[in-house]
Amino acid sequence: MNLLTKIRNYINRKVLKTPGVKFLQQNSDKNMRKKHINFWLNRARKKKNFQKYFFQEVNNQKNQITFKNESENYKLSQKMLDSLSNNGLLIIEDALPEFERNQIIEYFDELKNNNKFEKKWLKKPYNPNFYKEVSEMLGITSIKNFEFLNSYSKQLSKEIYGKIVEPTVELRYLKYDKDCEEEKVRGATYLHTDRFLPHVKVYYTPFEITMNTAPLEYVLSSHKINDDYLNFYYETKNFDETDRLFNKFKFEKKVVCVPKNSLYVAFTNGFHKRTQFKNNDERSLVFLQYVERFNKIDYLI
Ligand SMILES: [Fe+2]
Repeated sequence: MNLLTKIRNYINRKVLKTPGVKFLQQNSDKNMRKKHINFWLNRARKKKNFQKYFFQEVNNQKNQITFKNESENYKLSQKMLDSLSNNGLLIIEDALPEFERNQIIEYFDELKNNNKFEKKWLKKPYNPNFYKEVSEMLGITSIKNFEFLNSYSKQLSKEIYGKIVEPTVELRYLKYDKDCEEEKVRGATYLHTDRFLPHVKVYYTPFEITMNTAPLEYVLSSHKINDDYLNFYYETKNFDETDRLFNKFKFEKKVVCVPKNSLYVAFTNGFHKRTQFKNNDERSLVFLQYVERFNKIDYLI
């Protein structure tokens, strides 16, 4: 990576990134928090595409959540997008052609073996040491290495952010070695939110995800920005299920167990968690996120 790219990445990551929860963690005064949240959410409200996905009320009709890429056209249909808007969650099975799934597996093989790294990583993969009980290898690469995943990413970002946004691409390999259930971890295996501003995560798994391999659990429709949502953020201390106002969210929960080669999309300004590992097992998951490249400037202009 050349110096200019390094500097640009640093500024994107540290200065311009979409505001997270740091301000709220540092300020307990409710009026200050209200001002901060309302300022940024009013900017978000002005974005036409955010209106549909984050501000428009949920319609109570039950929407299909899981779709198959049956025609192999790798295109998102209006039905899929409407479901995403309503539920905050969309699952696409048979998502990628087999050759691209195999390419991604080769990346995970390097993370799993943890000895030589010859794939197109942007920097050397490492263990972020977030978990005590689970070992993790995190590798970061460019979306340009995966043609069809990139095509989904372009369609989704155009639809949600109103323009094509290049995502950060993280490949996370988790390995759990114990023969009893993993302990709960704040910010991961508690139901929590990532940020108060609209936030989307796209996940791709080359392998089946079962109840034993730490699936995502999502509180359907909890991404919609309404009075309950605002009140929760004005008061929250932990940004998770242990906060008093979490009880206001009486929505259905969905555990995302999926067959191999599935892609799913979740709005993680709504409540979600990684389910705890039950027993020794492993999970390989690709994460796409947009908050570095769709950033403060996009909100302010
Ligand atoms: Fe999260």
